[in-house]
Parts: sequence; structure tokens; C-alpha cells
Amino acid sequence: MAAQDPEGAPAGPGQRREQFGSRFLSDPSHVFHHNAWDNVEWTEEQAAAAERKVQENSAQRVCAEKQVDYEVNAHKYWNDFYKVHENGFFKDRHWLFTEFPELAPRPNQNHLKDLFLETEKGGLSDCRNTEGGPGLTTEQRSCSSASLRCETQTAPEGQTQKSSPLQMCADKLPGSSATYRILEVGCGVGNTVFPILQTNNDPGLFVYCCDFSSTAVELVQTSSEYDPARCFAFVHDLCDEDQPYPVPENSIDVVVLIFVLSAVVPNKMQKAINRLSRLLKSGGMMLLRDYGRYDMAQLRFKKGQCLSGNFYVRGDGTRVYFFTQDELDTLFTTAGLEKVQNLVDRRLQVNRGKQLTMYRVWIQCKYRKPLLPST
Ligand SMILES: C[S@@+](CC[C@H](N)C(=O)[O-])C[C@H]1O[C@@H](n2cnc3c(N)ncnc32)[C@H](O)[C@@H]1O
Repeated sequence: MAAQDPEGAPAGPGQRREQFGSRFLSDPSHVFHHNAWDNVEWTEEQAAAAERKVQENSAQRVCAEKQVDYEVNAHKYWNDFYKVHENGFFKDRHWLFTEFPELAPRPNQNHLKDLFLETEKGGLSDCRNTEGGPGLTTEQRSCSSASLRCETQTAPEGQTQKSSPLQMCADKLPGSSATYRILEVGCGVGNTVFPILQTNNDPGLFVYCCDFSSTAVELVQTSSEYDPARCFAFVHDLCDEDQPYPVPENSIDVVVLIFVLSAVVPNKMQKAINRLSRLLKSGGMMLLRDYGRYDMAQLRFKKGQCLSGNFYVRGDGTRVYFFTQDELDTLFTTAGLEKVQNLVDRRLQVNRGKQLTMYRVWIQCKYRKPLLPST
């Protein structure tokens, strides 16, 4: 599973990291002097060689039967991944708050503390089912709190409710009194969520995080850093249109997608982004960092691992897509969002021991839900 290593070079001690780093390779003969170089330019020959490599490794496609298995059992392949690696695979992100200051504490948030305390006193977070009786099927219901209404779904008669929202609403909706809500989708074992909770001391902050791997979610929930007063981790498949998110539309300030959309079959990406877009408040942001076209990981795939154009399956059954900037722009703008940032981060990583060079390509996007016109 060597292909999954979405990390860059850390800044030195005490250094403030520039966006996309600031170590530039001006003299190619110095390439093995450091472990990584930022913002590298590709030559035309290099780009052409990468294109040829992709044509080669895409020439033969995985058979239809196996493709169905990888799709239907996608969560199981990720469960197996986390059973093996637990929380030792993906490193915490030194770049997180430089690239996405939206996740860091907001300036002048002290006034929110008072608001938060007021809200707590008022006991706003009780969220109960207000409509419909038992036995109704897949019908949207709402349960209300003074500050947040959550969407729920009931199981058909005679079946057990497998998702947690209904149960949550009957008790208490986590984060209902928060003033700043972040939702991370495909959170894995919490390598983004835990740094946010550690760094962002905004008393109004609440972090929701989900993954379709129950093994990963369990690792998040059982971590000593997991604080149910500030965070709610739940199992959720972002492609499952019948499974509601436990938060209502227009309630989330920031949606975070870090190396997760690439794990989704391309023909389900648009609907997944549309749903997430609806959860955002007006003015809310969708943040993404993911694999870019011709990243080293794409060029390393062998013939027979390609599922469809730029979409591959790894040896362990997990899948990965390699995006262009335009494709991501289309996904987000079709979902009604406005571009704030859509950048390619090209980095040269170096294995000095083996004298190897590895060209990484990541894409970083920020798209905003338009503000409502003032009346
Ligand atoms: C490459 S890992 C990244 C994990 C995490 N975002 C990180 O950066 O450490 C991709 C994650 O997406 C999750 N995932 C893949 N497809 C998903 C889906 N349809 N719904 C929810 N999570 C999904 C996987 O279980 C895995 O945890």
C-alpha cells in the first residue's frame, strides 16, 4: 500500500510554513541535498513521458465482475486496510492550518464564548422527533432544537434502524448549540480531526466526522483524544443517497475532504458533492486536497490495475482517482459553489539513500456556497 502517502516536507523547527512550502530547487545538481522541493516545474518531456506511462498502464482494464466487487465491498476493503494499519499509516498534517486557515481558530472569537455560555444556559440542544409515528418508511422528518434541525429517516416497519440519526435526535443532537461546525467526510482515523480539536480552541466549535469504514470510526471514537463534547464521529457512506447525514441542510460552516473523493467511483462523485453542498450554510466553504493527474502514485500502477480512465485499484482492493483542476472545478460549480481557490501543488520528494526522485501532484480547492442576496 505504498501508494498512499499524501504528505509533504515539514517546515523546520520554529519556521512558519509558507503555502505550498518555500524550498525551491534552482540548481538541479543540488537535488539530493534535501528530502523535498516545493513548487517544482515540469518539463514538456516529463509531462509527455507521464502521459505515455498512463496510456500504458490503462491499456488493460479490470474485468466487470471484479469492478462490481470493488464497488459493493469498498467499505470492507477499507476496513481491512485499517485493521492492518490501525492509526499508524496516515501522518498528521503539518500543512493543515497553513493551507486551510478556515480550520484554525478564528480571530476575535472571544465574543462567541459568551454566546456559547448563554446557549448552554438556555438548554437548546434537546432534539426530539416532532412529526410522524412509527411504521413510516424513508420519509424525511424533522426534529427540532432552537438552533438546529436535523434530518432523520425511519426504518421500514419490522426492520431495525441501522443508522444512528434517529436515535441521536431522540436524545440530543451533538453540536446543536455550536456556532462553528466543521464536517470532515472520509475522516479515516482522525489525522485531521484531532489536530483541529487540539489547535482550535473556539468554544463554539463542533467537529462532525464520518467514514464508511466502521473500523476507522471506532479507532476515532476510542482514541484518548476523542471528546464527545466537541466532536461526533459516525459511520457514513458519502455515496449512499438513502442515508441522511445527521445534520440538516444549511448548517455546516466548513466541509473537509482530504484524499477521500479520489476513493469514490467517478460516476458517484457529483451527487456526493451536491449533497455536501446542501449541508453548507450560505458563505460556508468546501475544502479539498487530493491526488492530481500524473502524481507519482498514478505512474507507478501496473497494467491490469486500471478500472476506468485515471481510476485504479491498489493491491489491497482500495481505489484511487487522479483529478485535473478542471474536473474538480466542474464538480464544485455544478453543485452551486463558487471558486475561491483551485491550485496544483507539485512537489519533488527525494530518497537520498536510494538516489530516487518522486514527483508528487496534489490539488487543493476551496469553493464557497454563495451568500444569500440581502433583502
Ligand atoms: C486515503 S484515505 C484518507 C483518510 C483521511 N481523510 C486522511 O487524510 O487521513 C480515504 C478515506 O476515505 C474513506 N472513504 C472512501 N470511500 C468512502 C465513502 N464512499 N464514504 C465515506 N468514506 C469513504 C476511506 O475509508 C478512507 O478512510
